[in-house]
Amino acid sequence: MIISIIGTGSMGMGLAQQLGKAGYKVILGSRDLIKAKNKAHSIDGEITGGSIEEAIASGTIIIPALKYPLILDVLKEHRESLAKKIVLDISNPVGVKIDKDTSTAEEIAKVIPMSVIVKGFNTVFSNILKTTPRFGNQYANLFICGDDKDSKSIIMEIGRVLGYDAIDIGPLKAARYLEALTLFQIYLGEELNNWNLTLKLLIRES
Ligand SMILES: NC(=O)c1ccc[n+]([C@@H]2O[C@H](COP(=O)([O-])OP(=O)(O)OC[C@H]3O[C@@H](n4cnc5c(N)ncnc54)[C@H](OP(=O)(O)O)[C@@H]3O)[C@@H](O)[C@H]2O)c1
Repeated sequence: MIISIIGTGSMGMGLAQQLGKAGYKVILGSRDLIKAKNKAHSIDGEITGGSIEEAIASGTIIIPALKYPLILDVLKEHRESLAKKIVLDISNPVGVKIDKDTSTAEEIAKVIPMSVIVKGFNTVFSNILKTTPRFGNQYANLFICGDDKDSKSIIMEIGRVLGYDAIDIGPLKAARYLEALTLFQIYLGEELNNWNLTLKLLIRES
């Protein structure tokens, strides 16, 4: 399995570092090939740098680590090569207006209808991603949603390998609430002036 990441920013690099450390084969794709190769070289593990085209063509799972709505244009341009692949959407509608009856994940699904969309990691701040999901004796949740059970299981397993307490929260439509949750976390980060935080789900079994 090859995991391809598009974009060498904060989340792209954080994911590449953690996936590389965990032993996954990763392709780091960028519009700037030299940058992709240099950044890939700076990370431990089986990481290679490539163009966006190469990353999409070779990956089983594609993670666009790009801002919304730019993500829509980039994915649309590669719609054919993305067909049948799992696209893990980590985006949040930060600084953009999005209708209450949709989400960035659902808008992404509309532009690449032949791909399987799974939503996750959008609630994980980059500094948590780059350090550890561990908070004392608790582990950060990784909320995952999507309409394809098998693809969700693959992403949940990757999340567990990286140390997260992964939870399946239902169909892709649940991304509407998950994205709202992140906006609340961002509010908390700013208000408390501390980005080392995450919201944890506590469930009483009986
Ligand atoms: N930062 C967080 O804590 C956090 C947490 C959870 C989710 N997210 C989500 O993760 C996504 C990425 O966020 P980020 O913080 O990693 O952003 P970022 O640091 O700004 O990185 C975005 C990357 O997009 C690429 N890019 C920019 N313009 C492009 C273009 N025209 N065509 C192709 N690629 C382009 C760039 O990589 P290249 O220069 O290599 O092309 C850039 O480094 C966003 O959707 C965000 O909502 C962020």
